[in-house]
Formats: sequence, structure tokens, C-alpha cells
Amino acid sequence: MPKVFNWQLNREMSYPYEEARPEKQFCAVFNINRCVGCQTCTMACKATWTFSKGQEHMWWNNVETKPYGGYPQFWDRKILEMLGPQKWEGDTYAGQTIFEAAPEGEVALGYYPEQREWVYPNIYEDTPAAETWQSTTELPVHDIWMFYLQRVCNHCTYPACLAACPRKAIYKRPEDGIVLVDQERCRGYRKCVAACPYKKAMYRPTTRTAEKCIACYPLNEQGILSRCMAACVGKIRLQGWLHAPDQAREDNPIDYLVHFAKVALPLYPQFGTEPNIYYIPPRWAPREYLRQLFGPNVDEAIEKYTDPDPTLFGVLRLFGMTDRIIDRFQVTEEAAIGYDESGRELVRVSLDEPFYIRPAYDERYEVHRFNEP
Ligand code: SF4
Ligand code: SF4
Ligand code: F3S
Repeated sequence: MPKVFNWQLNREMSYPYEEARPEKQFCAVFNINRCVGCQTCTMACKATWTFSKGQEHMWWNNVETKPYGGYPQFWDRKILEMLGPQKWEGDTYAGQTIFEAAPEGEVALGYYPEQREWVYPNIYEDTPAAETWQSTTELPVHDIWMFYLQRVCNHCTYPACLAACPRKAIYKRPEDGIVLVDQERCRGYRKCVAACPYKKAMYRPTTRTAEKCIACYPLNEQGILSRCMAACVGKIRLQGWLHAPDQAREDNPIDYLVHFAKVALPLYPQFGTEPNIYYIPPRWAPREYLRQLFGPNVDEAIEKYTDPDPTLFGVLRLFGMTDRIIDRFQVTEEAAIGYDESGRELVRVSLDEPFYIRPAYDERYEVHRFNEP
């Protein structure tokens, strides 16, 4: 097997194909701290792409409650247990990836979920983990926790779905890194479903083919955000283009968050697919658990996010503020500004929220307001 460089693992690894990075990579950063778990993203995707016969079990975008939730159920627990110990030595992953741990005759370590594991997409919603629980009026009292994990296909740099398909029916577009299933070539072998460690390739029995998130590429091609990104009520998502570390541009908001500020981390990088959806980890969950999900740099990321410098603060203000893809940003004393690829200004967000004090008595409408001093 060829050796490729996976920068998230800080080392080379085996992968069935040579390294072939796209010109620019479809990418998004999800700020877990802001998610309200409303599932608007989930429904935006469902209503756009997966409302037809044979797609009933498909949720290309789902939001699950961690630590217990998962769609398909227990997807991460299962593959983590199969993979065995996952050690990091500093920034370098010292364990095995799913490609390196593949059983004889297979391309990747994986499993095919049972039907019942797909049918409760939001099982354990809002169920917290609780070591201690003391429901009294004395505060602070508890260390229960949960958080929402927003999941779409990661349009991986080294996709396991693509590697595992015996028909070579899955391809990664060189122009934007989006991973697609060729519906003409697919013959329903379902190796992609078993191999994707994130379980984001899904089988459709009515067509006997695999389907998956297509990144809403017809929108992206026009510079418009994917549906799940644009619909996000909590404004937790910033979509854009990511570059490899040696090509990263400091004025590109995604490169900035991932490579410069380093507040956005990949989900389960130890799988080895180099996923391209990044997360700002939640501040309140146990660090050991977060390190298993997002790798060894969780503490630094949370520290930086908690006390952002002016540039980071500006980029964080741009989340959810336009339905266009921001290619370049600038932060001034007053505002964060986003531009498209042609340099056109897309959005300008002031750094300070205006603060209004209304008179307690509104003479115009002859009513009393609530902010009586
Ligand atoms: Fe393929 Fe899964 Fe990666 Fe998506 S997340 S590109 S389905 S391996
Ligand atoms: Fe669905 Fe488009 Fe979001 Fe993919 S990018 S999960 S296809 S809405
Ligand atoms: Fe290949 Fe998956 Fe279809 S393995 S043939 S893309 S079901």
C-alpha cells in the first residue's frame, strides 16, 4: 500500500491510493458551544435530499447527544472498541488507523450496522452523563454534562468509503474535494457502508445503491452555502475552503481557525481518514472524553476559544452571518468583514453589539416597559 502523509496524525500512514489533494477542500467548522440542538440542519437536509422511498432511514445530517447518543446507534463506541488502544505521543498518533488495522483481505477495519441501529436517529437525545447528581438549591452542585454533536459526511482527504469500493464507484472531486457516489457505477456491494468509520455512507434498498451527503455541491458551485450550513439557527457553522498546512492562508477563515488559531479540531482523527469537518470543542465536558473525540490538542483549543484575541473574536462573529461562502476575511477595529473569491464584500459584522436602554415609560405608545431603573 502507498504511504501518504496525514497531517492530523503528524505522520505517514498506509492508504490504498497515492496522496492526491484537491485544489481546495470543502470544509466546515462547527462550534459545539453554540448548538441549541434544534435539528433545523437535519430537517433542511432531509427535506432537500432524502425524502423519497428507500431513504426513510437516511439522515445525511444528524445531531446526536453525547456521550450516549449515536446514529447509527453506538457507531463510535463500536469502531473504537474494534480499533483497540489509541495512543498519542505528543502530537503524533502512535496507534493504528482503520487502514492499518484492516483484517486480511479488507481495505479498512469496519462493520455493517444492523437495521435496527439506523431506526432511532436521535436516541438518548438530551440524556446527560451523571457521576453525581444533587438536585438541591445549593450551587454549584453537579458535574452532569452532555453536548450536541453535529454530523455530516467529512468529505475525507483519505475516504474509507472510496478506498473500500470494489467497483471504484466513489470519487473525490479534484476541484473541491467533495466525495460522491457514482450512481451508474454502484452495484450495491455496501463495502463503503462498512468501511466508513463515521457511518455516513448509507444503503438505499429501492435503488440498490449507496448514497451519502453530497455537500450540496450544486449550491457550492455557485458560492452558496450547503443547506444544513445556511439553515443553522444557532449560527454555529462556518463553511469554506481548507488548505493543507503548507498552503494555508492566514486570511482564509477556515485555514485561520484550523491551522493558525488551532481552535477547530477534527472528529476522531485517529481513524486516519483526515476528516474535513472541524469542531470547536465544548468547554464544559470532561477533557479526557474530549481528547478521545478530538485528539490531544483539546486543552489549547478551549483555552484559546475562552479568551479569544481580536482576530479570533472577529472570525467567530462571522459564523452564520451570510448564506455565501467566505473565502477571505479581515478584522478591523470596528468590524469583521467577509469576502468571496472575487474579492466582493459579502458581509460586515460589527464587533460590538449595540446596547439600547429604553425609557421605562414610552410616551409615544403610553406604555410602561420592563427596564425601570
Ligand atoms: Fe466517505 Fe465516511 Fe469520509 Fe464521508 S465520512 S468521505 S462517507 S469515509
Ligand atoms: Fe445534507 Fe447538504 Fe448538509 Fe450534506 S451538506 S448534510 S447534503 S444539507
Ligand atoms: Fe461501491 Fe458502496 Fe456501491 S462499495 S458498489 S459504492 S454500495
